[in-house]
Amino acid sequence: TILDVVLDNELNFESFGVCEGTVSCSTCHVIFEDGVYSLLEEPLMDEMDMLDLACGLTETSRLGCQVY
Ligand code: FES
Repeated sequence: TILDVVLDNELNFESFGVCEGTVSCSTCHVIFEDGVYSLLEEPLMDEMDMLDLACGLTETSRLGCQVY
């Protein structure tokens, strides 16, 4: 996942992925370009519910811990 990439590479995005991928926060919110977003699998209901709480939600928002 994108969260794994951030953690494995010790990238310093403050507070990114606080719940460690348990879909109980929205700190891993990422926004994709349209062309990339269209290539992704559909989000599951848990992700959709948590995305509703994300700050700055867009049509191409996803949770980084759920995107492979
Ligand atoms: Fe918390 Fe993705 S890390 S929902």
